[in-house]
Amino acid sequence: MPDRYNIIRQRLAQHPQQWLITGVAGFIGSNLLEALLKLDQTVVGLDNFSTGYQHNLDEVRSLVSPEQWKRFRLIEGDIRRMDDCVNAVKGVDHVLHEAALGSVPRSVNDPIATHEVNISGFLNMLVAARDAEVSSFTYAASSSTYGDHPGLPKVEDLIGQPLSPYAVTKYANELYASVFARTYGFKTIGLRYFNVFGKRQDPDGAYAAVIPKWTASLIHGDDVVINGDGETSRDFCYIDNVVQVNILSATSEEEARNQVYNVAVGDRTTLIQLYDGLQSVLGDNGVSCDKRPVFGPFRAGDVRHSQANVDKAHRLLGYDNTIPLAEGLSRAMPWYIQFVAPR
Ligand SMILES: NC(=O)c1ccc[n+]([C@@H]2O[C@H](COP(=O)([O-])OP(=O)(O)OC[C@H]3O[C@@H](n4cnc5c(N)ncnc54)[C@H](O)[C@@H]3O)[C@@H](O)[C@H]2O)c1
Repeated sequence: MPDRYNIIRQRLAQHPQQWLITGVAGFIGSNLLEALLKLDQTVVGLDNFSTGYQHNLDEVRSLVSPEQWKRFRLIEGDIRRMDDCVNAVKGVDHVLHEAALGSVPRSVNDPIATHEVNISGFLNMLVAARDAEVSSFTYAASSSTYGDHPGLPKVEDLIGQPLSPYAVTKYANELYASVFARTYGFKTIGLRYFNVFGKRQDPDGAYAAVIPKWTASLIHGDDVVINGDGETSRDFCYIDNVVQVNILSATSEEEARNQVYNVAVGDRTTLIQLYDGLQSVLGDNGVSCDKRPVFGPFRAGDVRHSQANVDKAHRLLGYDNTIPLAEGLSRAMPWYIQFVAPR
């Protein structure tokens, strides 16, 4: 498929569509919002601001034109309430469902909260979108669904047992999605994101993801604690890759529906390599940090190694020209340096 993404973007800009982004004030949601508004799309956003921020929306507003911003409408609401979901999907062509409680450790500490949002909220959104007869429904699945399966790189059909309550919820989403296709003919697409990073990813709090958390610590001159021996590995995926695949998914052909896809780069980076890479890219941006990391215990529920095979997304969605980790870090760092003020 020759550069399907460019073709689709041109088509969308000529014939704008109506989109719903749930979790629009979060990291991934706000980046999707920015990309869609820049393509002159009309966007409804649903968020309860539990882990998302008004300042993410304010930043998007500053990056688009006043005319583009007028095409955005925010609904402050909760996917655990059916009425909010029904209200949000009215008149919408494409749903990008991102709202969830992320983080494996959060789910280990509070499995009920994670279950209510990630499973009951997801089911509400599925029912509301099915009844509204939207033309596409794409949802954020997760690489945590691979659980204890030892195979590398991960291929979509080979999964193991979940290792955390969070992984259970994301797998349950896939099961519901598949049953909705079978039972109601409502065909969705699940995107199994692997460790996404980029601007507007929250560096604060107990449940911050590794890249923003370490970046903030390095900028502040604080110790970085690596959970385990540093050899744990991940396929880190820059946010623009995630934006690309969401737009490709929403506009995909029938044969690409009722499927799940890995969304990553296809590389594997150990935590110690990541630490060195962050120090180096911060150095390139004038932030010197030569401290060595501190090693702590392994974290409950974490998968040891993760690396995606992205052939399926390439083949069926036209996912291409993915941005690798090093380039993603170079693109994301200026934002972190500006956003995370040195103490
Ligand atoms: N960031 C990653 O590396 C990653 C990896 C795999 C999967 N995912 C999934 O991608 C999605 C987006 O993740 P993110 O990193 O942007 O997280 P985020 O926490 O920044 O965004 C989630 C958004 O959902 C909103 N939300 C939470 N509960 C809600 C509710 N009950 N009703 C309405 N809104 C609610 C939050 O306020 C927030 O704005 C999530 O489904 C997450 O599980 C993310």
